[in-house]
Amino acid sequence: MKKKMKGNFRKIFTPFKVKLLRKTLIVPKEGNRLPVYTLTFENPHGLYKTCRIVKGDVIKVVVPNYKPKSFSMSAERENEFDITLKIYPNGRASGYLDSILIGGEIEVFRMGVKKRQAGGEMLGIISFGVGITETLPVVAHELERGALNGFGEGEESGVKNVIFVWASKTKLDIFWHNKIKQLQKKYGQRFKFITMLSREYFSNDDGKGILDYADDIMYGKRINNRQLIANIFDHSWGTYYGGPRQHLRHKVRWLYVGEKKVMKEIEGLINENGYSVGKGFGENSYFVDDPILQKEMKRKRMNAKMNKPDTNTTIVMAARL
Ligand SMILES: Cc1cc2nc3c(=O)[nH]c(=O)nc-3n(C[C@H](O)[C@H](O)[C@H](O)COP(=O)(O)OP(=O)(O)OC[C@H]3O[C@@H](n4cnc5c(N)ncnc54)[C@H](O)[C@@H]3O)c2cc1C
Ligand SMILES: NC(=O)c1ccc[n+]([C@@H]2O[C@H](COP(=O)([O-])OP(=O)(O)OC[C@H]3O[C@@H](n4cnc5c(N)ncnc54)[C@H](OP(=O)(O)O)[C@@H]3O)[C@@H](O)[C@H]2O)c1
Repeated sequence: MKKKMKGNFRKIFTPFKVKLLRKTLIVPKEGNRLPVYTLTFENPHGLYKTCRIVKGDVIKVVVPNYKPKSFSMSAERENEFDITLKIYPNGRASGYLDSILIGGEIEVFRMGVKKRQAGGEMLGIISFGVGITETLPVVAHELERGALNGFGEGEESGVKNVIFVWASKTKLDIFWHNKIKQLQKKYGQRFKFITMLSREYFSNDDGKGILDYADDIMYGKRINNRQLIANIFDHSWGTYYGGPRQHLRHKVRWLYVGEKKVMKEIEGLINENGYSVGKGFGENSYFVDDPILQKEMKRKRMNAKMNKPDTNTTIVMAARL
């Protein structure tokens, strides 16, 4: 068993070159709006087999003369995988990826120390902007797993009900309409999707047409107070204090993805609502740290500190990011 683990780690942490096959524009640049692209890479080394996309694993892109930077793998197929990214002005990592020509190569490795916490029945998702690259694949998997394996306590069971808030600036900043629509069609009431637009205040068509999948569109709003979070999630589930399903609060799980500072704020608001979430712990966190993977990362860090040779020093550095 020990031997197998070591072998797997070598496979996981060894960086290798991947070739850019396609670059698809999904949000065009216009005025202050930043462009979003899906980059499709060839995957001859089977990265998809070790990158657990549904566990929020991260692809580390080695940015020359800088450091490895994280990107969620947004899709995986037999011989290729995607990264979906926003290009920031003068962005070191996003600018580097934007500069790669079709046929050009980059170095990547995969990184992941998380595992899903068993036992959730209701899942609350808050995604900020391009943070949806991590959350939507996770949700798609959860919904499917629930349909296949039921909603019990076991590792392989899924969640019964997902409420998903996507916080974006305007309607034109958002993407993946078809993916969202398909999930809605397939899972109906089990998947409630709310679009929150901070810089759009009014719509003639009430969003239908462009956002015909949205169960709710909230204009001119940011998800930045605990009452709003309680209204959207707990009042829908009935899990608020005094609510008909208060006794099921331990079955609620939360996943929120965005800029570090914003995630910290959201974490605080969810905790204020009486749940327990946090990085690597908390009975209501959707992901928790995987102790085996954590231990391995620690070992690598120790080796680096003591100047002991390890499989790859770049990776040891990345582990500290
Ligand atoms: C676990 C994880 C997964 C990630 N997955 C993805 C992903 O799938 N897709 C993706 O696009 N990104 C993802 N990121 C973010 C990515 O790692 C980079 O941080 C991002 O591409 C910006 O880096 P940069 O080097 O291009 O910008 P920098 O060189 O760091 O910054 C360039 C300029 O852009 C500004 N800037 C940087 N971030 C933002 C922001 N969020 N909003 C406004 N201005 C900003 C900076 O202030 C600066 O002015 C992920 C991050 C983490 C931690
Ligand atoms: N797995 C991961 O960890 C992962 C994966 C992918 C992306 N990311 C991260 O996700 C972030 C997404 O950035 P983005 O540029 O796409 O986002 P963005 O478009 O700048 O922001 C998305 C929305 O969040 C709102 N917002 C910003 N700060 C807020 C706050 N403090 N409270 C409430 N709402 C707030 C914005 O409103 P206003 O701007 O109008 O205020 C906007 O409506 C990036 O930092 C990226 O690193 C992480």
